Amino acid sequence: MRFLILSGNPKRDGLCDSITAQIIRGAEESGAEVETFYADHMLACHVCNDGWGSCRGYHECAFGEDGFNEGQQALKRADAICIITPVYWGEMAEGLKCFLDRFRRCEFGQNGAIAGKQILLAASPGGSGNGALTCLEQMDRFCRHTGAIIFDLISINRWNHDYKARAAYSAAKALAAGRKAGNNI
Ligand SMILES: Cc1cc2nc3c(=O)[nH]c(=O)nc-3n(C[C@H](O)[C@H](O)[C@H](O)COP(=O)(O)O)c2cc1C
Repeated sequence: MRFLILSGNPKRDGLCDSITAQIIRGAEESGAEVETFYADHMLACHVCNDGWGSCRGYHECAFGEDGFNEGQQALKRADAICIITPVYWGEMAEGLKCFLDRFRRCEFGQNGAIAGKQILLAASPGGSGNGALTCLEQMDRFCRHTGAIIFDLISINRWNHDYKARAAYSAAKALAAGRKAGNNI
């Protein structure tokens, strides 16, 4: 089981990073091979031509050498995925949004690279705690456009960190162990 963590977090400490560590621990405890890709400083889509470029016909970004291709390949390789982001302005972090916008163009619909793959979504609103819902909704929409299956959605803030960190760990562990959304336990 190849378990990819796709992170929008530009920091390597703090709340979001501590949750990422719990997700890695959970996935590894289920025997997964864990890879982390940081899409924290990805540049925006160029919106080629009249709206579409090589993303549509060739499933590749014309500007993919800027780090995008590496992330696209990581998602293609993965059996299960966690997307984690700090909440910025009630949305996912901008670098991650840029990456997912470009990825969605290349891999939309039921024939795309992550259609049918299970995804754990995690968002950390580390300031006011506001904006978790809108951030997760934005990530939810990405899954619908790419045909990915949402395994679970978790938001973690400063005052629920103790019990939500455990939930993130347990969710990653269950996902990496092969539990399927829709099954009874
Ligand atoms: C530009 C920016 C916008 C932010 N917007 C929000 C927000 O809408 N809601 C919130 O609770 N926290 C917000 N934050 C705080 C981040 O969510 C917080 O830094 C993030 O959870 C990471 O926490 P950490 O720095 O301890 O890892 C924002 C931070 C930045 C840099």
